[in-house]
Amino acid sequence: MSNLDVVEDTYKGPRHDGEYERLRVQHELVKANMDGKLVLAPIDLTSSTITVLDSATADGYWLVDLAHSLHPQARLVGTDIASQYFLKADKPANIELHLHNIFEAWPNEYINAFDLVHQRFVLPVCNDAQSLDSIQKLFTCVKPGGYIQLHDGDMETIIEGPDRVAMTEFRDMMGMAWGIMGHNLSPGPKLAHWLREAGAADIQETLVFNECGPHVANQVQSERAISVLLALLDGAHLLLGNIPGFPSVQKLGQLKKDLEHELRTSLTQRYSAALAATERNVNDEALDRLKENGGIIMVTFLPELVSKHDDHQTLQTVVDHMLYIGQRIGFDHIGIGSDYDGMFRSVRGLEDTSRYPQLISEMLRRGISRSNIEKIIGMNIIRVLKEVERLGVGTDKTQPVLEDDLPDMWDDSLRKLISQTYPDAS
Ligand SMILES: C[S@@+](CC[C@H](N)C(=O)[O-])C[C@H]1O[C@@H](n2cnc3c(N)ncnc32)[C@H](O)[C@@H]1O
Repeated sequence: MSNLDVVEDTYKGPRHDGEYERLRVQHELVKANMDGKLVLAPIDLTSSTITVLDSATADGYWLVDLAHSLHPQARLVGTDIASQYFLKADKPANIELHLHNIFEAWPNEYINAFDLVHQRFVLPVCNDAQSLDSIQKLFTCVKPGGYIQLHDGDMETIIEGPDRVAMTEFRDMMGMAWGIMGHNLSPGPKLAHWLREAGAADIQETLVFNECGPHVANQVQSERAISVLLALLDGAHLLLGNIPGFPSVQKLGQLKKDLEHELRTSLTQRYSAALAATERNVNDEALDRLKENGGIIMVTFLPELVSKHDDHQTLQTVVDHMLYIGQRIGFDHIGIGSDYDGMFRSVRGLEDTSRYPQLISEMLRRGISRSNIEKIIGMNIIRVLKEVERLGVGTDKTQPVLEDDLPDMWDDSLRKLISQTYPDAS
């Protein structure tokens, strides 16, 4: 492995004990949010001949954790651009750690050699072309019939709002800095596309949500998520401090305090309360009931229901709603209920049905898988209507229709408003 031993460390991110501690906390955070699983690929982890490669492994912690559930003869190889933190004493004998730069071709003995290739949280050092190139190179290490599992983040999908000012500032600051570097702040939503381009088949996507705040049921997880975010903010100055326009150390210190306060006190992604507090948006309890009865919620584009703040009445916030519901009860329970027939103005970016391609592109960008999008834009409502028809057959048709008793809304002022807004309508 001689060509693995001379690698220049081009990584500009933090490299100190605290950073490796952050990586461990982050590892435990995402592992718990993946139901304690490190590997989602359908692979026989009990086999004694299994071979696993973990690219950009840092100290090798992911492999050491995985080794606990593998056969002691399984071969585990980790690589990274820097070796000074490679685990030594605490490392099982079947783990090897080597130097390798993800931008370089892999050595011959790695080609087609691994049942499972894994890479996590390194693509923010790349632009789009470099990400694709490095994934194409990494893909050559997968044995025919083997699996590649990529895991990366989305730093931009946050819920904005008056109680999320510091989080929004943090996201915008990171976005500005990554934009100047030309790197991807949020490679996660693009992974499936790059894998497809690299030639992978049967691609499955899983969204892992890391939540924090006082309303998160698991407070240990919430604290982990907070500490990871705050450590990222600490690392930001080291990495980006020389970028013109990047906030001073003092400003970052204040932002850190504000962010910490906000993360510990803000409402966490409450669908009705935080996104748009109106009496028509359903609350979490109603969402949970939908999951129980296999029902569907039709996400509306009515601006006042999308957000109570003008600035957030956008296509992106509509997708926030979908992500929130999907996270809470699954994407099998979401449909589109645009309300285009009943609105005087629209949210920005979703002015009419000609914008549906943009909606789908945003859903893909934010990491909703193709199969879940197909459900949202049609398959879910077809399922529910079929079920309603099935239940309707043989029921007592004399039953009265259940209707809310609403006062008649049509009066002269409404008729006038409609004819002014739609002069061509008869
Ligand atoms: C944020 S850490 C993630 C580590 C680990 N995969 C995890 O999930 O905890 C990023 C790692 O990528 C490594 N790295 C950065 N640039 C690299 C490159 N060009 N080639 C290989 N590794 C690289 C860094 O040394 C660091 O260990």
